[in-house]
Amino acid sequence: MTPEHLIVHQQPAPHVAHVQLHRPKELNALNLELMGELRDVLRQLDADDQVRAIVISGDEKAFAAGADIKQMADKTAIDMYNIDQFSTWDTIRRIKKPLIAAVSGFALGGGCELTMLCDLIIASETARFGQPEIKLGIMPGAGGTQRLTRAVGKALAMEMVLTGRLLTAEEAFQAGLINKIVPVPLYLQEAVKMAATIASMSPLAVRMAKEAVLKSFDTTLDEGLQFERKNFYLLFATEDQKEGMQAFVEKRKPVFKGR
Ligand code: HXC
Repeated sequence: MTPEHLIVHQQPAPHVAHVQLHRPKELNALNLELMGELRDVLRQLDADDQVRAIVISGDEKAFAAGADIKQMADKTAIDMYNIDQFSTWDTIRRIKKPLIAAVSGFALGGGCELTMLCDLIIASETARFGQPEIKLGIMPGAGGTQRLTRAVGKALAMEMVLTGRLLTAEEAFQAGLINKIVPVPLYLQEAVKMAATIASMSPLAVRMAKEAVLKSFDTTLDEGLQFERKNFYLLFATEDQKEGMQAFVEKRKPVFKGR
């Protein structure tokens, strides 16, 4: 089914897909329907051998201004519990291919949390990152207290979560939240370029490397090192490892096939 709140751009670069959040009048507020569509599209792209990296963007004015406040306003705790929106987020968290957020304008609340669910963040100079839920009498619910704190440290995370202050792109970069800032006309292009670079690597190595980096958030150093080592050994079972090393020896570019 064609999504209503997303635009899927096929192949802006070889083996790259681009999913655009598309509720421009509502600053791409993440209602349940949009998030359900995003989950389904990402799952399809994750299963598609032709796709090796995925860019998620909004538009120039907003990546996403948060969860849809109007949709949540009159909900009870039990409504929220039954809706169980976070199972959608958990599915997105398990996407194996690299996700690159291309952010311009507002990335607030659930929007900021969605960027942090991605593996890399490219921002335009106008990007603003924040967790303003406190101003609504609630708090972040999709990782904003956890991923943000791990990314920027306790002091800044507390300030953002308790006061709702937004970070400029420059502050977000200085704090280690994002990878790169570029002028507005280039933010999407830059994210696609990053995705294309990743897509030119062995997809198996990329997948296992992503898995291992994410493991570091969940486990002890000792277990993380064991996990890393097993993935490292496993990659020697791939044709891509033979190709990558052979190409180096022969002074040519490798052609990775994902086997
Ligand atoms: C629903 C939203 C929205 C949102 C903006 N809109 N953000 N609708 N949910 N999160 C709507 C506005 O109501 C308005 O619709 C239109 O988009 C344009 O917004 P304006 O406010 O007129 O634009 P502007 O003056 O430029 O201000 C931009 C803004 C402001 C600073 C981003 O819109 C804002 O503060 N938005 C809310 C940000 C926020 O609190 N996010 C956290 C949400 S809670 P109309 O019809 O009036 O023109 C959350 C919890 C996550 O994310 C939990 C886990 C998923």
